[in-house]
Amino acid sequence: MSGLAFREPTGGELAKLERMLVAARVFGSGAEMRSAIGGEPWRIRTTDIGEVAVLSRWRDHLPVLAIDALWCVTGAIPAAVQTLRELGWSVGLSDVVSPPVPVEETGPYEAAGMRAQTVVATFALTPLGAMHTARHVPGLKIRRARKGDVPVVLRIDAACFDLFWRYDRRHLERFCDTGRLALAEVDGMAVGYTLCTVDADDGLLGRLCVVPGMRRRHIGSALLAEAVSFVGRAGGSRITLTTQVDNQPSQALYRSASFSDTGRRYAFLRFGAERGR
Ligand SMILES: CC(C)(COP(=O)(O)OP(=O)(O)OC[C@H]1O[C@@H](n2cnc3c(N)ncnc32)[C@H](O)[C@@H]1OP(=O)(O)O)[C@@H](O)C(=O)NCCC(=O)NCCS
Repeated sequence: MSGLAFREPTGGELAKLERMLVAARVFGSGAEMRSAIGGEPWRIRTTDIGEVAVLSRWRDHLPVLAIDALWCVTGAIPAAVQTLRELGWSVGLSDVVSPPVPVEETGPYEAAGMRAQTVVATFALTPLGAMHTARHVPGLKIRRARKGDVPVVLRIDAACFDLFWRYDRRHLERFCDTGRLALAEVDGMAVGYTLCTVDADDGLLGRLCVVPGMRRRHIGSALLAEAVSFVGRAGGSRITLTTQVDNQPSQALYRSASFSDTGRRYAFLRFGAERGR
């Protein structure tokens, strides 16, 4: 399979891409985009006919290239993925993870040799007022987390998620600027957190977790209620989230809080690091 002729965009192309990528919410602002490619120019690739790929390091602790966004005709996806895989190798990243792909549309990625590693379900709550009131949890306080809290949030995250999904410091520090992290503490001890963003009407719950030793005490429900209330205060009228299709505890929690399954399923595909170069 021959690849696509991806290359670094010219200055003029970059100016146009900046508008497009900010409008598509791939970057929060032009400044963010320029800072991203400042040290890592490979992060935006284009071709002479306008195909575009936006890339990043998936996590600092893993040699995985993330395809954050890919614009090309469906038939060109296998060739694009092959070229991007080689680009990843050239910067020391031995595996690739796809963007979230609707499960009905994974064929072109599979044709490139990738396999679904995780499938997520999308849940939503509309209107926000439909959520049940969370029970009172003695000693629980939920407050906004700041950059100084990142080491604590990192520890909670590592206790709750496997190596592939857990965040690194870089991501969490960025979320302090681009989203809202809320930390749950019981009698002063940090036990869980949420990450939320609000874009016009739409709230997105990107993370919700409670450390293993403190589960089934309604702390997750309280964090969820607080996140929903934050989205409402920030002007959102609905909230969506994704969770792994086999994550029974989280789905039970979301259903108990009146979220409904939208039926939409997305796959994250990988080659598998062991099949790297
Ligand atoms: C999902 C998670 C946040 C739940 O937190 P929690 O504090 O244990 O949840 P709560 O105590 O508020 O549970 C509220 C309700 O959800 C349901 N629920 C929660 N965990 C459940 C489980 N393991 N099995 C069945 N139902 C469960 C129950 O209905 C529960 O009410 P009940 O205890 O009165 O029966 C926690 O298990 C977790 O952090 N998991 C790992 C990270 C994760 O998967 N996050 C979500 C996806 S991003």
